Amino acid sequence: MDKKKIIIAIDGHSSCGKSTFAKAIAARLGYIFIDTGAMYRAVTLYALENGAIEMGILDEQRIVAMLPEIDINFRFNPQRGASDIYVNGDLVEGKIRTIEVSNYVSQVSSVGAVREKLVALQQQMGLKRGVVMDGRDIGTVVFPDAELKIYMTADPMVRAERRYKELTAKGDSVTLEEIYENVVSRDKADMSRAISPLRKADDAIVLDNSHMSVEEQMEWFLAKYNAIVG
Ligand code: DC
Repeated sequence: MDKKKIIIAIDGHSSCGKSTFAKAIAARLGYIFIDTGAMYRAVTLYALENGAIEMGILDEQRIVAMLPEIDINFRFNPQRGASDIYVNGDLVEGKIRTIEVSNYVSQVSSVGAVREKLVALQQQMGLKRGVVMDGRDIGTVVFPDAELKIYMTADPMVRAERRYKELTAKGDSVTLEEIYENVVSRDKADMSRAISPLRKADDAIVLDNSHMSVEEQMEWFLAKYNAIVG
């Protein structure tokens, strides 16, 4: 008999490997992986490219007015083994992970109307279950009824070093200090915003992966998953 399909909610701090972990789990279970941070990043990119962020200032009214014209969807990319994100039909996967987008995404994701739109989309994507969704409010707001909730964290300097390696490998010219500052300031912004702040759901299990390999994390996960699904 096929195993029961569940929702796996992965929340936690920025740059602690949530997406890598979620992607590996989805591949292992044959689930759909949804990176909700990519959705907030895609809206931020659109705001930057269409004049809702100018001279470093976010025009909230303008971004809210733009929301109906932003169509977001995912298409599976077999080469990456994950879905790429598209905005109005344009592939934006490669453009949403720059430091510029990272610097504005916390502001954009604190706008209520942005969250309402994206949360509704995420809930629709999880209707059939069998999804691994990573973000900040998945276990608390998007799917409070998720069967397995994981709250991920890692030491901020370890996280900055990981992101620094990722960005410099792509050829981005960034310093470790600016990445560290971005990581710390995003933690603060994510946890202190008025709407849906990042917090651990009461029934979430904590995974601190500062000193864990990807394999060790998978082993940890499978024990938790098997205890629920059998
Ligand atoms: O996971 P990430 O670092 O790519 O996410 C980018 C930003 O989007 C993060 O700083 C906070 C925001 N975000 C959010 O507010 N809610 C989510 N469910 C996912 C991301």
